[in-house]
Amino acid sequence: MCRIFAAALADGQVGPVLKVGLKRLEYGGYDSSGMATIDQGKLKIKKGVGKLDEVDRSVKFDELSGNIGIAHNRWATHGYPSVTNAHPQVDCTGKIAVVHNGVIENFLEIKEELAERGHEFMSRTDTEVIAHLIEDYIKKGMDFLNSTINAIKELKGSYALAILYSAEPDKVMLVKNESPLMLGIGDDGNYAASDPVAFVDHTNRVIQLEDGELAIITPKSYKVYRISDQGLVNHNIETVDINVNDVNKGGYRHYMLKEIMEQPVAISYALNLQIQYLDVVSELVRRSRITYLIGAGSSYHSCMAGSYMLSQISGLPTIPAVASEFIQQFGKTLNPDSTVILASQSGETADVLKVASYARLKASTIISITNVVSSTITRLSRAYIIQQAGPEIGVAATKTYTTQLLVYYQLAVKLAKKSGSITEMEINSYMKGLRELPRLADKVLKDVREPISKLATELKDAGHIFFLGRGINTATAYEGRLKMLEISYIPSSAFSAGESKHGPIALIENNSPVIFLAPDDASRKVMLGNIMEIRARGGKAIVFGNEVDSELKQASDEFIGMPQINEMLTPIIYILPLQLLAYNTAILKGYDPDKPRNLAKSVTVL
Ligand code: F6R
Repeated sequence: MCRIFAAALADGQVGPVLKVGLKRLEYGGYDSSGMATIDQGKLKIKKGVGKLDEVDRSVKFDELSGNIGIAHNRWATHGYPSVTNAHPQVDCTGKIAVVHNGVIENFLEIKEELAERGHEFMSRTDTEVIAHLIEDYIKKGMDFLNSTINAIKELKGSYALAILYSAEPDKVMLVKNESPLMLGIGDDGNYAASDPVAFVDHTNRVIQLEDGELAIITPKSYKVYRISDQGLVNHNIETVDINVNDVNKGGYRHYMLKEIMEQPVAISYALNLQIQYLDVVSELVRRSRITYLIGAGSSYHSCMAGSYMLSQISGLPTIPAVASEFIQQFGKTLNPDSTVILASQSGETADVLKVASYARLKASTIISITNVVSSTITRLSRAYIIQQAGPEIGVAATKTYTTQLLVYYQLAVKLAKKSGSITEMEINSYMKGLRELPRLADKVLKDVREPISKLATELKDAGHIFFLGRGINTATAYEGRLKMLEISYIPSSAFSAGESKHGPIALIENNSPVIFLAPDDASRKVMLGNIMEIRARGGKAIVFGNEVDSELKQASDEFIGMPQINEMLTPIIYILPLQLLAYNTAILKGYDPDKPRNLAKSVTVL
């Protein structure tokens, strides 16, 4: 977890630059934040617990002097959030400062050895050992570069590191292994960060570091080395296309609301998936003996919906699976004839990357669907499709969920075309649905505003909320439930409506709120029966259904009308009011929807 940022400026104070970048990276962790700079050969450090703005109010990051610095947002993995455990972590001499994203697996052994040699540790972090290890090599007479290389060779685990040493004050040392890290090459200085959004207003020229590489940036130069043999590496500089306005709130109170409201545009971007990529991916899937659709959290829900799309549109059976369970559940069935489609908006989720590494060992085909082209998952995949949703900063997945669904839909239509399993007329009708989608999404977001804010007022004090769907909208029920519980903290459950009578219905009592997703599809009739069952037991049926369905409306306690669209696209339209409902409920309860407690945007630990 965590995010890191480093800058070496040709001119001026680095504190304000680091603060802006760190703010953009806050989605990666906000347990604590900190910075270190070097000024006149001395290391200066400021850090504190809490969100960046809170820490900044007390420590005043802008006042950090010096033109070189490193910065960190923490999501705790080792050691409780505290000032001592906040990064940067330093060595015994106070000359070396380290910020780190990742986990050092063997830190306890290293710590013990170093302690025996007289090193004193202040924190409970795994990161602190890195500063002391480098110190140990420097004591043996090595320079900063060689000490870092030797120290790194002792580490096991994942790390993106930025390191300062006050005796070599014009350098930032950067190291990458299994955590994202890239350089930004600017005219006013050089940068490095977990995500280019940190430095995008200084430069869009980027070098992607590879695992096992170390880079040194100074205000005027950069060099990249292979750690194994210290050979210099010549990377191409790529241009990233990120608009600064994309990473600001665009006039909305929260990123989450901005990202919900952006969906009509994100959907139209995602409709422009590159045809060649869809072609390659569909061909690989077509040749495969078995295809698994794998993801975590919201991305798993998109896989659930994706499996309905693939079977109903293209007749292809696939198996959706939760990433953290996949290896135990299906690992032994992987072989060169199988394909795993890994859905991960960040492309950095550890559970998903682990499946990728495992599938690699089994020589299976790895395909990914992600929103971040420079992510680790694209490098592990034989082919990938980029969702094109633009950066998502709010912790809860919104536009990246709907655009993942769109990728699956387009893949299903492509496969159907290739296999000739459906008629030209059917294909045209599926394509027509796609073209209507941005306009319908826009209409829904406008039409449901009022009813959803009323509903949020009714639900904000609920002790428990049920979400029930059928068919492809079972996934919508799961996703609606996840949105509600993760940002409003109201305990919620989701089931396929057919399952409710097999147990969950026991929880229904007078006025228990039950949200039904009941579009005009093959299961509408049985849904009507399920609504009756719940109401007969005193439950309150809040139904999302076709706006012209008067029978359904009559059968509901509350009814929210939705436009008609082909069944396979309903999850994209029906999740929109549920995202808004979760957002409004969180606001009414006084919670910050952009930073739900205990969560981080991308979960890079197992
Ligand atoms: C929920 C949410 C998480 C992510 C999950 C996977 O709103 O955002 O459940 O969906 O952590 O993340 P990615 O898609 O980046 O692999």
